Amino acid sequence: MRTAVCPGSFDPITVGHLDLVERAAAIFDRVIVCVMVNSEKKHMFSLEERLELAREAVSHLPNVQAAACGGLLADFAGEHGAQALIKGARTGADFDWELQMAQINRELRPELDTVIFPARPEHLHISSTMAREMIHHHQRLEGCIPSGALAVLRARERKV
Ligand code: PNS
Repeated sequence: MRTAVCPGSFDPITVGHLDLVERAAAIFDRVIVCVMVNSEKKHMFSLEERLELAREAVSHLPNVQAAACGGLLADFAGEHGAQALIKGARTGADFDWELQMAQINRELRPELDTVIFPARPEHLHISSTMAREMIHHHQRLEGCIPSGALAVLRARERKV
């Protein structure tokens, strides 16, 4: 079984993230969306909230599951028998960053490779940062946040 881990802060998960997960799910037998703690960032949503949003967003994909991790990504991938990490790149700067991350993760776990998907043109402007701004200013989130995650936000009366 070929397993891939798709890691990120997912604060919150966006349609761009979901597109990556769907593309990975078409190639790998199993995809695990790994909701992580990014020590460089102050999150808007708690780890539990981000996990719930991710879980609902991918609930239509039978070979995808979501999990949370507060540790090292390479360890998580090893514990789940994953062969690959899935990352997305919208810009050259994203790609340069992911190249460094791929090298670090490969040093930590040599059998773990990284697959970098180019973002679709229609998703180039979409990011979690943008989604947080829209939430902050009570703007519409359709087209930015997956419908499953949007339903969770609405149920939590976050006025979105
Ligand atoms: O969505 P983000 O915030 O860009 O995701 C970054 C993330 C969570 C994938 C990255 O910070 C990460 O891999 N954190 C886990 C800790 C880890 O494994 N660090 C070693 C690689 S530098």
